[in-house]
Amino acid sequence: MKYTALILLCSWLGHTTVQAAENDNVLDELVFCLVCHGYQAQGNPSVGAPALVGIEDWYLRAALAAYRGGTRAGYAAAMDMQAAARMLPEDDFAKVLRLLNELPPREPQAAAVVDAALLQKGRESYAQFCASCHGADGEGNQILAAPGLRRLNDWYLQAAWESYLTGGRGNDSADGASQMAQFVRALPDSFDIDAVVVFLTAAE
Ligand code: HEC
Ligand code: HEC
Repeated sequence: MKYTALILLCSWLGHTTVQAAENDNVLDELVFCLVCHGYQAQGNPSVGAPALVGIEDWYLRAALAAYRGGTRAGYAAAMDMQAAARMLPEDDFAKVLRLLNELPPREPQAAAVVDAALLQKGRESYAQFCASCHGADGEGNQILAAPGLRRLNDWYLQAAWESYLTGGRGNDSADGASQMAQFVRALPDSFDIDAVVVFLTAAE
């Protein structure tokens, strides 16, 4: 049922971008991605697929490789994406990325009125715990393999956090994922991820 509605939205998108993508058969592959990731890649909570608009070239490559290679696995959402990653031919990767980047930026998602104290707590917590890897303002740091976090939906930030904490993300590799998992699991109980999520998704 939910897939039917998404497919209809995707056919609308296909219609509007078909000129820009003239003769580009990768459009079909992009539409395949958008069936789950939302019709303008803005994220789709009903299947747990995050916004992709604004994703970094290097991180998209790394994430797809981790799904394909089976290191990003073990929790339900990863298994859905693993099958999808294996269906995107390597040769079409650059074109899919280009089309993704032509989509409009994601709408601000945070509530118009944000609890100022929680926002401030999140800002401080982010600076203390996250900025060293993810950048002063969540812009990401390729050298440390830490992606930008501003692209992500609030529900996905929570789900990603949980996937490191209990889902086994980062268990199975010696790369960035295991660094992030070790970090998450070593935080004190008092650490409040909700405040950091408010900070990362607040429109400023
Ligand atoms: C069947 C649904 C489905 C399809 C089709 C799909 N995805 Fe996904 N994708 C997901 C889900 C669910 C997640 C979240 C997985 C997780 O939490 O690890 C995800 C995660 C991702 C991520 C990781 C994002 C991040 O911030 O770490 C990337 C990159 C991605 N998808 C790219 C694509 C691309 C490119 C396509 C098209 C070739 C595609 N997806 C097709 C469901 C899908
Ligand atoms: C030691 C460096 C380091 C620190 C500190 C760190 N991260 Fe990460 N983080 C990473 C790396 C590397 C990745 C990519 C891991 C992967 O590919 O799964 C990552 C991934 C993530 C993701 C998943 C992104 C996605 O698109 O799926 C989230 C969410 C995240 N970090 C949030 C945070 C928050 C919030 C903090 C602070 C509380 C933090 N990180 C602190 C290195 C770090």
